[in-house]
Amino acid sequence: MILLDGKKTAADIKEEIALEVTALKNKGSKTPHLAAIIVGNNGASITYVNAKVKACERVGFESTLIRLPEAISETDLLNEIEILNVNNDIDGFIVQLPLPKHIDEQKVIMAVDPNKDVDGFHPTNVGKMALNLPTFISATPFGILELLDRYNVETSGKHVVVLGRSHIVGSPMSILLSQKRKVGNATVTMCHSRTKNLKEITLQADIIVAAIGIPEFVKADMVKENATIIDVGITRVADTSKKSGFRLIGDVAFNEVASKSEFITPVPGGVGPMTIAMLLKNTLLACKRNNA
Ligand code: GUN
Repeated sequence: MILLDGKKTAADIKEEIALEVTALKNKGSKTPHLAAIIVGNNGASITYVNAKVKACERVGFESTLIRLPEAISETDLLNEIEILNVNNDIDGFIVQLPLPKHIDEQKVIMAVDPNKDVDGFHPTNVGKMALNLPTFISATPFGILELLDRYNVETSGKHVVVLGRSHIVGSPMSILLSQKRKVGNATVTMCHSRTKNLKEITLQADIIVAAIGIPEFVKADMVKENATIIDVGITRVADTSKKSGFRLIGDVAFNEVASKSEFITPVPGGVGPMTIAMLLKNTLLACKRNNA
């Protein structure tokens, strides 16, 4: 069993980005600048956004965190987005999801200038991604591709089973892995809550990408010997032995599945850190593109 170490790989990527930022600054070019909007007080979302902002500082980016109240109106939020759209100093920005129920998430995603949409959520960028055209690939699927690439995990001709059809992970992941690209050319089966005979399908998988948000859903008896397991789950469960009061549980029963697998991502320290590294990579790309 080989651990796909997202923490170490993300650190390597951040080091590469930091070197590029230094080179840009030495040339007198613009310093990449990422902004993040967060609405409300969701603890997990605040933690993620803070981690994104901190990561910017570590690689030498500028960052701006915009905290808005839970009760903000949709119109006011859309105005904040427009301010970032027209601010030439901001190369890319994200609006952390989920948003409060009274705000139409799709409307918000569509309000972001596609050239600054470093999350890759705007339909223009999703469309480009689906057509295998250059664009911003969403950070989580992008991070999974990068992790598979850096560990030389073969995907060509392999059967990948993606569990989950979310717009952020399952759907783009299944599209990307089926495309003609370096990490791709796979035969992809996408499964979801209505899939019948799930275990029969997962047992045929050379690679499983679990992105359903159900803790320890994938058990050893669902996995073929020597499969590769990518665990995207990060459910918080109460744990009084931790300073934070919780620990993170993946979608895979790691202890029983790890011994059967060839490659596996841990939780935490697998896909999560890669997501942040790839958001930085997209921001660097946005900076270079928008200032070329
Ligand atoms: N919520 C969970 N993952 C993400 C992400 O990658 N980007 C944003 N904006 N919100 C999220």
